[in-house]
Amino acid sequence: MHEPRGRMTKDGIRIYEDSDFAGMHAAGRMAAQILDEVAQLVTPGTTTAEIDDFVRGRVQELGAVSATIGYRGYKHASCISVNHVVCHGIPGAKLLNDGDILNIDVTVILDGWFGDTSRMYVAGTLGRKAARLIEVTHEALMLGIAAVKPGNTFGDIGAAIQAHVEANRMSVVRDFCGHGLGRVFHAPPNVLHYGRPGTGPVLEEGMFFTIEPMVNLGRPETKVLADDWTAVTRDRSLSAQFEHSVGVTATACEIFTLSPADSFHPTWG
Ligand code: MF3
Ligand code: CO
Ligand code: CO
Repeated sequence: MHEPRGRMTKDGIRIYEDSDFAGMHAAGRMAAQILDEVAQLVTPGTTTAEIDDFVRGRVQELGAVSATIGYRGYKHASCISVNHVVCHGIPGAKLLNDGDILNIDVTVILDGWFGDTSRMYVAGTLGRKAARLIEVTHEALMLGIAAVKPGNTFGDIGAAIQAHVEANRMSVVRDFCGHGLGRVFHAPPNVLHYGRPGTGPVLEEGMFFTIEPMVNLGRPETKVLADDWTAVTRDRSLSAQFEHSVGVTATACEIFTLSPADSFHPTWG
């Protein structure tokens, strides 16, 4: 077993060392590469189970382990959340239809390090409202990331995200949040995607966490279906999400899950 190095803040947030960034970078990059590759499968007539099979196969071929298979009884290598599904959609036999928007979320474990990332995709033709939702959600994530530097707080991240989403008359989901990660999947803190500037724990160099805002076209409320996983918007409005894993550096942050093909955003081709 690895003896965990580094230290813990008073809020229970682990501070990793300089040398730990390389492992996170490799894991994050692999998860992002799989999200690059999976884009070719997203087309009307494909099932979400086929997409998951591809993810499962690639994780293995690349020498990593899926973090989600066996996690709290979850059985799949990805979460695939279509249209009004907010997150934790379970891959299955349902066919994608023209115009469906979907989030694919992949977490790999490589040499003990977790890489967790998700993006939006579209099957066929992207509708106008869906395009705006995806655009604003992606911008919100990047504005949250822009607030990541030592001395800022987690509230600064949430506030940046919330301000952008609400300025576009959309809503931030409150029921799910980002999380610390590193040699574990989910660790403190809860990274809220809303909040007030200057509140919450202070960011320090060496913190590793995800930012993964979920944004709804309608109201923010969600409910979890009887399968105990699938979260949907209560008003059945469309929902979008993007997720990056980041590490705080001396001056800002490093995004571990950047797309090797530079195709994080679907409309960037
Ligand atoms: N990858 C998700 C996250 O961003 C967690 C999925 S857990 C699962 O935290 F069990 F639903 F896969
Ligand atoms: Co996550
Ligand atoms: Co994820």
